[in-house]
Amino acid sequence: MSDPSSAPNTAPITVPMIRTAKVRDGHAPLVMVTAYDAPGARIADAAGVDMILVGDSVANVVLGYEDTLQVTIEDMAHHVAAVARTRPNALIVGDLPWMSYHIDAADTVRNAAVLIRAGAQCVKLEGGSVRAPMVEALVRAEIPVMGHLGLTPQSVNAMGGYRVQARDDEAAAELIEGAQALVSAGIFATVVEVVPEKVGAALTEALEVPTIGIGAGPLCDGQVLVMHDLLGVTARSAKFVRRYAELADVATEAVAAFAADVRSGAYPADREVYH
Ligand code: KIV
Repeated sequence: MSDPSSAPNTAPITVPMIRTAKVRDGHAPLVMVTAYDAPGARIADAAGVDMILVGDSVANVVLGYEDTLQVTIEDMAHHVAAVARTRPNALIVGDLPWMSYHIDAADTVRNAAVLIRAGAQCVKLEGGSVRAPMVEALVRAEIPVMGHLGLTPQSVNAMGGYRVQARDDEAAAELIEGAQALVSAGIFATVVEVVPEKVGAALTEALEVPTIGIGAGPLCDGQVLVMHDLLGVTARSAKFVRRYAELADVATEAVAAFAADVRSGAYPADREVYH
């Protein structure tokens, strides 16, 4: 898996490899980024990440929606397939969208199968112990499942906005109990989003499977960011995001330079013309 030099992975990453990747057992922290299309997947894989998450954040990051509730299983399959066509060594995680795993176990398995057939190697779903029956059904159908706890964007209306979760002891204990129920049901790893650092640490300590933090502090077994955030493509980013580039600025300057060259007649030049 990815070493600290971020060399590309030379062999495919598998679910069993991720399941045992706890930092306390001497494993390097896991790295996951989102990608929604073939160029993004190629960049992520060349950078040597362990996992590519085809996240339902495609809704607000790429498709212009206000929240993630607008994307369907068909939308997600379309993006998973684009990523899968690049045949990355990184493990492809397909995000189950809102209402694709909320009705019953049979519906959940059918929907997850759509993402697996599109090329995902596992699926991710949001929520605590209430999701345990769905996780069990997926695992029985041989579909590996990643959890997602803490700030779960699909619950934006129930939570009343995007806020730090599990701030008091009771809520933190509930989060950890929920995570343990999901581990018993069979998840192989879990995302933990926007919780205090000590909750990220306590969860990581309590679970046998790796925790992948996003705004959950440094003591998780790995970290995940939305690629468009870390590249500086999105206009605004949350406190936990580190912007490693400002690609929106670079891209705007490049397109403005093209527009200026067209208007001045500097483009196309002789070398850019077929004679
Ligand atoms: O959809 C997504 O991008 C996610 C990450 C925020 C973990 O679920």
